Amino acid sequence: MPERVVTNGDLAEVMDTSDEWIKTRTGIERRHIAEENQATAAMAIEAARAALAVADADPREVDLVIVGTATPDTCMPSTACLVQNALGASRAGALDLNAGCSGFVYALAMGHQAIASGEHELVMVVGADTMSRIVNQQDRSTAVIFGDGAGAVLLRASEGTAGIRATALGSDGSGGDLLMVPAGGSAMPACAETVAQGLHYLAMDGRQVYRFASRTVPRVIEQVLEKAKMSLDEVDLIIPHQANLRIMEAVAKRLHLPDEKFYANIDEYGNTSAASVPIALCEAVDKEYVAPGQKIVLVGFGAGLTWAAVALEWGPSVQEISAVFYRRWLRWVVYRYADMHTRWMRFVRSNGGRAWRSARGQWDRLRHRDSGSE
Ligand code: COA
Repeated sequence: MPERVVTNGDLAEVMDTSDEWIKTRTGIERRHIAEENQATAAMAIEAARAALAVADADPREVDLVIVGTATPDTCMPSTACLVQNALGASRAGALDLNAGCSGFVYALAMGHQAIASGEHELVMVVGADTMSRIVNQQDRSTAVIFGDGAGAVLLRASEGTAGIRATALGSDGSGGDLLMVPAGGSAMPACAETVAQGLHYLAMDGRQVYRFASRTVPRVIEQVLEKAKMSLDEVDLIIPHQANLRIMEAVAKRLHLPDEKFYANIDEYGNTSAASVPIALCEAVDKEYVAPGQKIVLVGFGAGLTWAAVALEWGPSVQEISAVFYRRWLRWVVYRYADMHTRWMRFVRSNGGRAWRSARGQWDRLRHRDSGSE
């Protein structure tokens, strides 16, 4: 999470809103906002490195990096490539996945399939978004809701019942206009006019999104449980996308479940889009809400419209962070090497590199001429 915290009170000083309105309508009290020099990749890299530390894994063994995000650092290249590079995950493929706020749960399902197919062993799945960059900070209907952050999990192939049991994905493009950034894509490239009209900002029909979420989320939870052959009673914890506390309460009511079954930390972070589910999962693990053998459902929904759920059984407890010193040291070396390698490759591909290569070529030619004349 970025360190900078913006409270409801801070927002009330700059726009026509109040702590009371925000808290009662959404459950949000604070949100963390990225610094100006911090974008999605920076947070995603920190989260991914933390996941590698918890799993005590070697970054060079990662096969695939998937970053669920709707706010990549740039349209091209993908944020996942920046993460792959910073991790020194030299043999990994990398791609971004944009399914709005469902991005992480979608990415988790994809990562699971990549392992289940036998193609990959170790998959890094990240959910990361810097919503503050696409939200109009003068628009009270969206500015109060969103925050920034990143979370990551490392999936590993394993035997036994623990792990991901089933996934369910859905989409309804007819609702694409309910939550969208109109400009900046190929349909309406960003230009002075689109900026003047604020079309590069997120536009949201809050009421419609609220209605969609409270109807769809219970359905996808039931669907994934049916696929996993689990009953609702067996579920120990549901970790939903943190969009609005009232949506979570409405879903709990529809499923006849107590609110306590739903993990909520929206008060602290607001809606961090694709990052919200992994952040909540990691926090639930840290707070020991999650224990081996427990059945957990992760559920996301958002722009697209999209929705997704994953049913899983939690495996043996997570190791102490960096249990083995030498592997912690190894990761440090890999990260430093990755950084130096990037600088070196950029130099080699630059004019400086071309000059260096041509000087070396001349030197080689001179040497060969001299040795020939001898
Ligand atoms: N502070 C104070 N008043 C505000 C406000 C704010 N930040 N934002 C809107 N209002 C006002 C509106 O202007 C409106 O005033 P009016 O009645 O005088 O016209 C009033 O509050 C009610 O607005 P409305 O939009 O109907 O409120 P709501 O109860 O639907 O709550 C949301 C708005 C956005 C909190 C709610 O619709 C929501 O959470 N929707 C889901 C959004 C979401 O989850 N998006 C992400 C999905 S991934």
